[in-house]
Amino acid sequence: MTTKKRGLSTRSVQGNKRPQPGPAVEPIVQTSTFIFKDQHEMVNAVQGTSGKHVYTRWSNPTTRNAEEKISSLEGTDDTLLLASGMAAISSTVYGFLKKGNRLLSCDSIYGGTLHLFKEVLPNQGIEVDFHPLDGFADAVENSYGSYDMCYFETPTNPVLGIVDIRRVASAAKATNTVSVIDNTFATPINQRPHELGVDVVIHSATKYLGGHSDVIAGCVSGCDEHIKKVRSAARLLGGTIDPFASFLLDRGIKTLAARMVWHNFNAIFLADKLSQDSRISRIHYPGLPTHPNHSIARRQMSGYGGMIAIDLDANLNMTKDFVDSLEIFLNAVSLGGVESLASIPALTTHYGFSKEELEKTGISESTVRLSVGIEDPEDLLQDIRQALDLSIR
Ligand SMILES: Cc1ncc(COP(=O)(O)O)c(C=O)c1O
Repeated sequence: MTTKKRGLSTRSVQGNKRPQPGPAVEPIVQTSTFIFKDQHEMVNAVQGTSGKHVYTRWSNPTTRNAEEKISSLEGTDDTLLLASGMAAISSTVYGFLKKGNRLLSCDSIYGGTLHLFKEVLPNQGIEVDFHPLDGFADAVENSYGSYDMCYFETPTNPVLGIVDIRRVASAAKATNTVSVIDNTFATPINQRPHELGVDVVIHSATKYLGGHSDVIAGCVSGCDEHIKKVRSAARLLGGTIDPFASFLLDRGIKTLAARMVWHNFNAIFLADKLSQDSRISRIHYPGLPTHPNHSIARRQMSGYGGMIAIDLDANLNMTKDFVDSLEIFLNAVSLGGVESLASIPALTTHYGFSKEELEKTGISESTVRLSVGIEDPEDLLQDIRQALDLSIR
């Protein structure tokens, strides 16, 4: 038996352990409850001493299988799967923070998380401060431990800002602050923040982990002690994932490493080609040497992912025409599936933000977010070029 750590493709397909003889695919244990022989067995299970499943809101074998696979990919002791990325984020916050605690968040984060932090947490006595992406690590360091948690994303949604993970993690450790990252855009194939020192890693598993736009799910990974806290909160908050969704997720993760090769390739191909097109005023992609934090991205990512944002040399109407003229890129929100999608953040994730608020997060009315799928790269390029021809004259 070899002790060498398995590669990421092997871990995507098989996790870290050889399955037990029996079905080659983890069965879908579609049950809410589990039957016990007698009270002795029941009590042992409830106390957690036998490791048996009791009730699917607490744990389920199909879900456990997917959790173990995600832990093997992120390099963490444990993972908790939940019904959505937002359930993962809210359960993490409530697992760690209580009334009177303070959270320092980067201001470039997913819109739903931003709303949770701005509108829900302060009403429950949790103080939230926001800091821009630039200098976020310094802000954590200079807080001298006055925050209980720091929260960030990298690359950020939607304009792919890059935060230095190692710097934030070490500043958080030095100040006794729990560090939490949303690793959705990167995936554990391209970036493993726990190995760089971050305590807790979150995903909207709806995106690349699932990979086929057919499941809503979220996960939280970290050391045993941290995941225990989140698990306790999640049990009561009730954002439980359904066993069938866990099955779909595990099925999706089997091809994660293979899919990411194509996502990474197609995105860098498009970013490079489109950077020569004068109808596009700016390309946001961490793999381009022109990205302001390309050197940090190069240090902490092994691939730059499938997300690109482009600013068109256009007004809002022309930008709408551009997206409506695309034939292969589909007109939809979300990201990370095998099919390419295009959306206008000013009209979707950041709808209702003022022009100034948009500018602060680096978004303009002509920004288009592209989730680059695994179709043929030449087809994708051709699709964007024909849509530019039709919309920008
Ligand atoms: C970066 C990021 N984090 C979290 C979420 C929330 O995930 P979910 O929609 O699965 O709740 C999203 C959703 O788009 C996202 O893009």
